[in-house]
Amino acid sequence: MSLFRQLFYKQRKFYDDDFDWDNYTADSYHRRLKEDVETEFRAISNKGQLSFDAETGHVTSHGEGIHPNHQLIFEAIGQLRPETVHEVGCGGGDHVANASTLFPDVHVTGGDRGQTQLELALQRHPQLKGRIGIQDITMPFSTAWPKADMVYSQAVIMHIHTAVSHFVGLANMVRQANDFVLLVENNQCHNFVRDIEALFAGGHLAWDTLQIYRMDGSGGARGILLAREAQDLPRLTSDVEICEGVKPSMRRLKRAAEDSARGLFGFDLA
Ligand SMILES: C[S@@+](CC[C@H](N)C(=O)[O-])C[C@H]1O[C@@H](n2cnc3c(N)ncnc32)[C@H](O)[C@@H]1O
Repeated sequence: MSLFRQLFYKQRKFYDDDFDWDNYTADSYHRRLKEDVETEFRAISNKGQLSFDAETGHVTSHGEGIHPNHQLIFEAIGQLRPETVHEVGCGGGDHVANASTLFPDVHVTGGDRGQTQLELALQRHPQLKGRIGIQDITMPFSTAWPKADMVYSQAVIMHIHTAVSHFVGLANMVRQANDFVLLVENNQCHNFVRDIEALFAGGHLAWDTLQIYRMDGSGGARGILLAREAQDLPRLTSDVEICEGVKPSMRRLKRAAEDSARGLFGFDLA
């Protein structure tokens, strides 16, 4: 390699994850929870503060409101009725704790790659001891990870942009789930539908069958539901559909396209 190319090679540009996860709680997460979430919504719900109506499939918050994304997660659990649920990137543990309070018969666990995020989760919810653990969803799949009927993430995969890590994370979530994967993410940060279809077509997903649906929460949040079996929900065939009506962010869409372009799927014979 010429000296010029070597220098250029050293300065090559890759996207990184959006945050340094080892310092994330101190750098921004704790402040964001306090200033962005807790000033507008109730983040921790005690018994009786949330209820699920099986007829409408809606979750109602009594007293202060909850964030629409969180409402969507709880509505998905109520409607899909998994016996076990696992949150990838559970951070401060609020959803694991609130889902357990709302659905006491459902066993909910959580994993996160950040030690200090899990410490924060145990400060906020001491009852989660023994149910949350260190998990890097971009590592090779581990049989130590708890299997669950439904695996979900909220605001996690959208921040993962290092090399092909988001593909690995998505494939791992499918492998960890028996029946459902719910993605509650910023849908402009990755081409989720396109990337998941490519992973499936290339043989990277553990399921034999895959259905992709749009799941809308009663509070207006949108999620992407991957299901092993057919569901009575609107099918998603493109990323344009899930982003419909949302103001485009050119920066995010460009980065999503570059992330997608890094994927090499399957085994095309030479
Ligand atoms: C924006 S926070 C969201 C936390 C939580 N889901 C919530 O809704 O409050 C993103 C979280 O994902 C975690 N995370 C990032 N990359 C991860 C990975 N590769 N595996 C597991 N967790 C990860 C971070 O440590 C952080 O706690």
